[in-house]
Amino acid sequence: MPSTNSTPVQSVATATSASGPITPGPALVPEGSAPVVTRERQGSVSGFKKAKVLKPFNTANIKILLLENVNETAVAALRDQGYQVETFAKALGEEDLIAKIKDVHCIGIRSKTKLTKKVLDAAEKLGVIGCFCIGTNQVDLEHAASKGIAVFNSPFSNSRSVAELVIAEIVLLSRQLGDRNNEMHDGVWSKVSANCYEIRGKTIGIVGYGHIGSQLSVLAESMGMRVLFYDVVPLMPLGTSKQVHTLSDLLTEADFVTLHVPETEDTKNMIGENELNQMKQGSFLINASRGTIVQIPALAKALRSGHLGGAAVDVFPKEPAANGKFFESELVGCPNTLLTPHIGGSTEEAQSMIGVEVSQALIKFINSGTSIGAVNFPEVDLRAIRDDQENSIRLCYTHANVPGVLLRITNILADHNVDKQFSDSKGKIAYLMADISDVTPEQIQDIYRLVSETPTNIVTRVLY
Ligand SMILES: NC(=O)c1ccc[n+]([C@@H]2O[C@H](COP(=O)([O-])OP(=O)(O)OC[C@H]3O[C@@H](n4cnc5c(N)ncnc54)[C@H](O)[C@@H]3O)[C@@H](O)[C@H]2O)c1
Repeated sequence: MPSTNSTPVQSVATATSASGPITPGPALVPEGSAPVVTRERQGSVSGFKKAKVLKPFNTANIKILLLENVNETAVAALRDQGYQVETFAKALGEEDLIAKIKDVHCIGIRSKTKLTKKVLDAAEKLGVIGCFCIGTNQVDLEHAASKGIAVFNSPFSNSRSVAELVIAEIVLLSRQLGDRNNEMHDGVWSKVSANCYEIRGKTIGIVGYGHIGSQLSVLAESMGMRVLFYDVVPLMPLGTSKQVHTLSDLLTEADFVTLHVPETEDTKNMIGENELNQMKQGSFLINASRGTIVQIPALAKALRSGHLGGAAVDVFPKEPAANGKFFESELVGCPNTLLTPHIGGSTEEAQSMIGVEVSQALIKFINSGTSIGAVNFPEVDLRAIRDDQENSIRLCYTHANVPGVLLRITNILADHNVDKQFSDSKGKIAYLMADISDVTPEQIQDIYRLVSETPTNIVTRVLY
């Protein structure tokens, strides 16, 4: 918010769209924000300069709305910053949401809250959205970006949970535990050892060696398994695992093939009849990635024919939108086939990790402008301003991605000492961060005014 008095501005921000004003109020700067802020100072330790804590405003004025029972770890972290945090156990309907979102600076949601264009247009001060989940399609991401609103999520907090489920499934499949369990519940005692194996010494073939695949590699090896993996990029193998050159190399060697690739044009229908035929007789397939990666009719055929010894499937091409008796699949009733309702990442620990990860991203964006990890926004970060750099400021400028903007900003900053600067763009939006040292309060006012008045301005913030 531009200050009109002569006291130093502690944090200033404004929002307009590239095509004209769209948000009359300031984004991420609370009304009545105290012009002078006492900030904890940390000295240098062993000559190592500490980062300056950029808390540019009275944090008690930052309003945060958390819906859908966002995990307590997030509530605690945000309250710890001094922000005003209001929580709701459920999602809000559109009308209630419009009323509530009007004057909040940040909103945290899970998958049920719909942040549509209409809802976002009602938000006068919103600067950042936290999706405390994996998906972000409940938010109109492009519209949010056009208003300078960054959106964060937590794509990798549940990697360990998925990896552990896969380990469990390998043991369950290997001992036909799903079938034995069903028989016992039907009152049938069937003590068999034929085709039941230890997993020690068997080969796991991991397709996609990312966050989950690599975790799994370590766990499988510690269970005594030989680990092969296939990935489109060459990666450092963990432990004694080995990367193979082609998917066929992996399919023909593995006793357990487990899929951990993202859903892309290349991975859709990746495992069909041809690939299943390449798998060893009696081997097992596990899919906890995305439902479209495996052709279900081909898998059902391979299981019923006995070519595969079993399968565990957590994800399906079509998944019911709500809990209840809605599930149908050709896999129902297939031998030694474990079916789970997309619960690979669903653990208390994962929820807690999501709370920590997303709240940290929100705090960093609010307090120091860092947009690393944003899904709809250019990802920009700068090395911290040192604690002893008293008169340094950070300019955070979200602007339309059109020619000539940087020249204009360079002209505005021409007589100042720009310590460091970085900018990046994503689609129609660009984001610049610049740390400027040795500036007086009057100069800060000028920088803020000149930058926020540029025709390409979407949001300008100045942090101390
Ligand atoms: N079941 C669940 O509840 C659950 C939970 C979390 C994630 N997932 C899914 O698990 C999958 C993996 O997640 P992640 O976090 O490990 O992802 P990641 O992005 O960390 O890793 C994916 C890996 O797949 C590789 N890859 C991409 N295309 C490939 C191809 N055509 N062939 C071989 N390798 C390819 C990438 O190079 C990368 O190493 C995703 O589909 C994700 O949606 C499911």
